[in-house]
Order: sequence, then C-alpha cells, then structure tokens
Amino acid sequence: MNAPTLVTAADANEEARADALLKPRFYTTDFAAMDRLDVSALRAQWDAMLEEYEGDNNHDHFRRDEGFAEEVAALAPTWSPELRAEFLAFLVSSLTSEFSGCVLYNEIAKRVDNPDVKRLMRYMARDESRHAGFLNQSLKDFGLGVDLGELKRNKALTFFKPKYIFYATYLSEKIGYARYITIFRALERHPERCFHPIFKWFERWCNDEFRHGESFALILRANPHLLEGGNRWWIRFFLLAVYATMYVRDHQRPALNAAFGLDPTDYDRRVFAITNEISKQVFPISLDIDHPAFLAGMDRLVAAAARIEAGRARGGPLGWWQQARGALSAGGTLLRLYLLPVRRHDLPEAVRVAPAW
Ligand SMILES: [Fe+2]
Ligand SMILES: [Fe+2]
Repeated sequence: MNAPTLVTAADANEEARADALLKPRFYTTDFAAMDRLDVSALRAQWDAMLEEYEGDNNHDHFRRDEGFAEEVAALAPTWSPELRAEFLAFLVSSLTSEFSGCVLYNEIAKRVDNPDVKRLMRYMARDESRHAGFLNQSLKDFGLGVDLGELKRNKALTFFKPKYIFYATYLSEKIGYARYITIFRALERHPERCFHPIFKWFERWCNDEFRHGESFALILRANPHLLEGGNRWWIRFFLLAVYATMYVRDHQRPALNAAFGLDPTDYDRRVFAITNEISKQVFPISLDIDHPAFLAGMDRLVAAAARIEAGRARGGPLGWWQQARGALSAGGTLLRLYLLPVRRHDLPEAVRVAPAW
C-alpha cells in the first residue's frame, strides 16, 4: 500500500531517522528518577532474573550460518516488487525499534548509579545491540545498511517520564515477543513460506524480548502504586496506543502478510490475545479485544490512516482537507476506543510468566 521504496543506503538511513506518528521513536527519560528506583520488594525474583541475563543463553545465537547468504541470494529474486519493498521497510522499522531500545537502555546504564538498574540496563542494551546488528547485516545484503552511530546522533528524542517508559517498554517487549513467535510458528507449520532465513532466528530471539518484558514487569510490581488509581488510565492509554499502532502498520503491509500466509486481522488478533494473556502478570486491566466495537474501531483507524496518506500524496488544499478529515476520524475513533469497557483482573501472586506460546 505505502511501503517506502528503499533503493540506496541513503533512503534506508532517511527512513530510520524519519519522525512520524507510526514510525519507531527514540526515547530519553528522567535519569535522576530512574536512579531512585527501588526493586527491593521483589529482591529474590529480581536477582534470579539478573542471573539469567548473566548466563546469556543467546550469546552465540546472533551469528549467521554458512548457508545464510546463499539462501538470501536464491530467494530474493523470487520476491514480487511489493514484497521486496515491504520486507525491506519491515527490516528498517524493526532495526529502528531494536536500536531505540539499545540507545535508551545504554543511556540509562551510563547515567545512573543504582546498581540494580545499571546492571539490568547493561544486559538489555547488550541484547538489543545484537538484535539491531543482526538486522543490519540483512539490510547490508541489499546495500541498505543503516549507520547506527549517525542515527543515534541525529534522530530526535522523545522525553517520557520513567513510569511511561515502563508501561510503553513493557508492552513493546511483550508485543514484540508475541509478533515474532506468531510469525515463527506460522512458518514452522509452512516452511515453504519462509522467504528469508532471518525468520528462523525468531524463536530464540523473541525469548530475549520476553525476558526484557519480565524485567519491566518486576519493576512495576515492585512499585505497585504505578498500577493503581489514576495510573490505570495511563495503562489503558498505552495499551490502546501500542495495539492501534501495530494494527494500522500491519494493515499497510499486505504483501508481507500474504507471504507469511497470515491475514493481518487474524494475525493481529492472535498477537493481541497473547499480549493480553501475558500482561495479566502486571496490568490490572486489559482491553476487551472481543468487544464488537473494538475491531470495528481498529478498522476505522486503518481507513483513516489511508485517507491521511492519500491526502498527503495528493497535496494542495484538497489534499489538506482529506488529511484533516482523516485525522478527525482517527481522533474520534481513538477516543471511543479509549472509553470502551475494559476487563479487570486481580494480579497473580507470582509475577514471572514463561514464554510458552
Ligand atoms: Fe530486541
Ligand atoms: Fe527487547
């Protein structure tokens, strides 16, 4: 539909740096407040988790095997132009998200003295740097390598208070797990659809993301005031923002989903269901994804995004008017979705969940 056509490395770098509503951002936060974070309420679970990071069970995972490049060379000529454009844009957007985590976690590790926070952030930055590097290698196969140093220097930073970082990052780690594992399982059932070898790395890869999510779950559960009262409205807000962004983006990649043999609506419902199930470990509420108005609203957002995109392409006063109508419809729809009834649950005694999907 509207995947950017990435022909040169300059295009890929430009795409990674671009700031737009649906594109991954880079974040900064209040480091002094991060430094004051206290996880002592869950000390034993926290230390056990840091041991897992220390053990580093994926230290040898992010290396290509011998057949990797050959497989890419054999498969790439079979891709349609649409699939090629969407897949390369998917790599750039995934790289930007992975590197966004790397930059934020690294910066926090550097700027705090709190030993618990510092250690965790170092481990997570280590993992995200591997993930970003691995994706970048696949972009380099097409001459589209992103200069990560330059991206770090030039991409705009969005400021989030620590609690917003916790809600947003917890969710993006867990939804990242749910997305990767769902693609991996679909291709496991249909290996003939595996049109690029990178997907074979997704299973062990997403276990890293799962563990990152676990870390934020422990932080939030050790500070229960972040999950109570008015903060529930923030949790609702971030749930909706993360779910809606994913839904709209996935519906802009029809060729990619078709190649996986996945219908974007079914795929996203599955990802919502997994994320809802996992997030019961920490959030006292979840969005009612089975409410008839929920999916209808998501589809209206897709239509609104298409209208905005068409208006932008058209330009001039008519294009502006089309964009304004799209934005108004998106705003109204988001507000209605935000006010839909939510499901409520009691938080379980044991915080940790296993990646069992
Ligand atoms: Fe990652
Ligand atoms: Fe992660």
